Amino acid sequence: MEYKIAVLKGDGIGPEIIAETIKVLDKVAGKYGHKFVYQRGYLGGESIDKYGVPYSEETSRICRNSDAILLGAVGGPKWNEIEAYKRPEKGLLAIRKELAVYTNLRPAILFKELRSASPLKDEIVEDGLDVMIVRELTGGIYFGPREYSEEKAVDTMPYTRNEIERIARKAFEIARNRNKKLTSVDKHNVLDTSKLWRKIVNEVAKDYPDVEVSHMYVDNAAMQLIINPRQFDIILTENMFGDILSDEASMLTGSLGMLPSASLGDEKLGLYEPCHGSAPDIAGQNIANPIATIMSAAMMLRYSFDLEDEAIAIEKAIEEVLSQGYRTADIYTEGTIKISTVEMGTQIANKI
Ligand code: IPM
Ligand code: MG
Repeated sequence: MEYKIAVLKGDGIGPEIIAETIKVLDKVAGKYGHKFVYQRGYLGGESIDKYGVPYSEETSRICRNSDAILLGAVGGPKWNEIEAYKRPEKGLLAIRKELAVYTNLRPAILFKELRSASPLKDEIVEDGLDVMIVRELTGGIYFGPREYSEEKAVDTMPYTRNEIERIARKAFEIARNRNKKLTSVDKHNVLDTSKLWRKIVNEVAKDYPDVEVSHMYVDNAAMQLIINPRQFDIILTENMFGDILSDEASMLTGSLGMLPSASLGDEKLGLYEPCHGSAPDIAGQNIANPIATIMSAAMMLRYSFDLEDEAIAIEKAIEEVLSQGYRTADIYTEGTIKISTVEMGTQIANKI
């Protein structure tokens, strides 16, 4: 089959990690007889440089004409002084909103080979870790009405019934195919949006009697992720809480460089990107970890193209490379073999 993939390299380490991901995808294509056609678009700082805006009409058209979108990362000091409404990050928010990819899946999986890279004590993560964060991605405080003056600034967090209900349904569907355990995270003791969130999650839960639901305050969840992360299977939460908790969860797996993501809507078209940023401090040095992006590509094969075997082939290849001791700098520990971004991509591609 032929699939059209919009490729947005973005800024910082974006081009480096995307190059390795494409190397792996091309290997999958050859092995399984597919054709991936890449169409280059621009997002974030590189788009500001080219078009003057972080997300252009041209790139929007390319994305909407593709079967999936693969994104590196956006942002960097070069664009820090730009007015807030056209910063690189705005491009990312705009593309998420335009494509209505409201379900953001962030699986935090600790590979047993990386246990020593996790800051948690052995007894906490001994039996591994596999938590799926389901983050609402197109609502809440990221998109609410705001105002700014030098004297006063306001951000607001609106949520509608429909926005909460559709993400809750997605999360319960996913829970059904996992351990049937869902923790909804909110701030019900303070926020009205959380009051509505909890009410609607409980309503939706009635349609999924086989799934065990519990509710947890976000501050407690942040603590529980450290002391007992294995109690979680699915964490369902709103946009900003999900942003924060997913960075926290990623570190449990050894490095932010290991956390992939899939952003999905009601169509097959999805947006796939690592959870980490553009890491301008290490850009161009061939030391970034491409694994989160390569795992995001595996998610793309799974969720947008229904190519489950191919997705598993990528995940197995990563496991194999890790079990042979190869590590990028961020996950390096004594006794392992430190390799570059390019070598990591090559190693993984060779195992497909
Ligand atoms: C993420 C990032 C983005 C977010 C930023 C870059 C706007 O932190 O994908 O988690 O906050 O959603
Ligand atoms: Mg984030």
